[in-house]
Amino acid sequence: MTDDELLDLARQVRDKAHCPYSGFSVGAALIDENGVVHLGCNVENAAYSNVSCAEAGAISAMVAGGGTRIAKIAVAGGSAGEKSRACTPCGGCRQRIDEFADENTRIIVKDNDENWHSYTMDELLPSSFHL
Ligand code: THU
Repeated sequence: MTDDELLDLARQVRDKAHCPYSGFSVGAALIDENGVVHLGCNVENAAYSNVSCAEAGAISAMVAGGGTRIAKIAVAGGSAGEKSRACTPCGGCRQRIDEFADENTRIIVKDNDENWHSYTMDELLPSSFHL
């Protein structure tokens, strides 16, 4: 699967986000170590702090599907009506991704001009916490 195909899946699942409070929809598509794709979108709640980020949803799907490592994850997000913007994972999601990442894991996003940005986990979360 190409990076563009993975990002397209993130953009498609973004359309399913439940985000009536922020109006900011996010989709995430990841490939695990077996080449299986897992998707997630953000799911908000009237009790605001119960929000589940798109990356968290994709990671839950991966774990439930038997995956243990994230090879690549594409994230797409934006406000209602906005096509897509460079939506790098929030702080909490960086830690979530890190749990299943290694030095080869890539976090990929496209900016408003459709330019690719590719990050390693160490770039997004240097000196990260591990037990
Ligand atoms: N959000 C994500 O789904 N992933 C991120 O990495 C950043 C934020 C969601 C949470 C909330 O529903 C909305 O975007 C606005 O913060």
